[in-house]
Amino acid sequence: MAKKIKRIGILTAGGDSPGLNAAIRGVGKTCLGYYGMELVGFRDGFRGLVENKRLKLDKTTLAGILTVGGTILGTSRDKPHRMVIDGRTKDMTKTIVDNYHEWGLDCLVCLGGGGTQKNALRLQEAGLNVITLPKTIDNDVAMTDATFGFATALDIATETIDRLHSTAHSHHRIIVAEIMGHRSGWLALGSGIAGGADVILIPEIPYDVEHIAAAIKRRSRAGTNFSIVAVAEGAMSRDDARALLAAEKKLERARTLHDRKEAKLELASLEVRHTGNTMRLAKHLEELTQLESRVTILGYVQRGGTPSAADRILATRLGSACGDLINEEHYGVMVAARGDGTEPVPLEKVAGKRKSVPPDHSWVTTARRVGTCMGD
Ligand code: F6P
Repeated sequence: MAKKIKRIGILTAGGDSPGLNAAIRGVGKTCLGYYGMELVGFRDGFRGLVENKRLKLDKTTLAGILTVGGTILGTSRDKPHRMVIDGRTKDMTKTIVDNYHEWGLDCLVCLGGGGTQKNALRLQEAGLNVITLPKTIDNDVAMTDATFGFATALDIATETIDRLHSTAHSHHRIIVAEIMGHRSGWLALGSGIAGGADVILIPEIPYDVEHIAAAIKRRSRAGTNFSIVAVAEGAMSRDDARALLAAEKKLERARTLHDRKEAKLELASLEVRHTGNTMRLAKHLEELTQLESRVTILGYVQRGGTPSAADRILATRLGSACGDLINEEHYGVMVAARGDGTEPVPLEKVAGKRKSVPPDHSWVTTARRVGTCMGD
């Protein structure tokens, strides 16, 4: 009996990043060209599975996308179990499962970050065959050496810091560059080291603004009266970190709906993206050092444009390894980068976990050795 041709669904979810199209191409060319499978693209993350929004993926649509930023499929942060449909939040898991079987899919490939890994595990547990690839500029997905998108964002943020040096030097200023990374500090730490920032602030090492000011003043006394501060958007002062920890503990202890709601509001107010903190930090440093300060928020530039060569290689490697796993019918895993190779890691070990910067990580030690102030 002729072997059934496998039909593979693929989607991209969460924040976009450089390398997504390279990964779609890696999965597509391996599945279609090497293994003779069929590939169906679903638009705008998990919503495309609910609303049957497809993009036909074949040699033509896969041609020329390796170098293209963003995702040809579109993306969203929609969650299968909490999706807003006609203004109401509904659990659409059963609809997705029914559609998956009705459309004769053999596997669903999800390209995404931490949130997507959790959503993918839910669909695996609902009975679908799911494989994920680790994508995000934040590099905070657990159990993988790297995520595609990170290398390109690192290059972009580093070039930005390079360019900020000349204006800070010319005007004898403190320039605070806010760098993405959500609640991890990989992007700020890596680009801070690569760009020679004088201060690097990351969420994993809460800072004391007095210590930062003292380091900047030491530089001034030594005749260098400008400084570059690379601050992760999730970085926070020691006081804020203590308040966040207290709010998290309050939420854990909350027994009534009122207490939970109150604790969640308190937590949300502390967790919002920290551009406000960045502005306050710059102003406070100006007051403490008497050096003018200015702020640059790198924002979405870090997620834009063509992927770097490193990300193209990583995305293609992970994509082609995904095709091999589908051929072996090895499902329920994330294709993790491991050295020069890849490793299938069970989704249970990835979902709900975040890879944060260990305070004793070699990058942190390196930064300290070359005289970088880490805020503590
Ligand atoms: O996860 C990638 C990321 O760019 C984070 O660094 C950032 O905090 C977040 O996405 C921004 O989310 P959104 O694109 O929904 O504004």
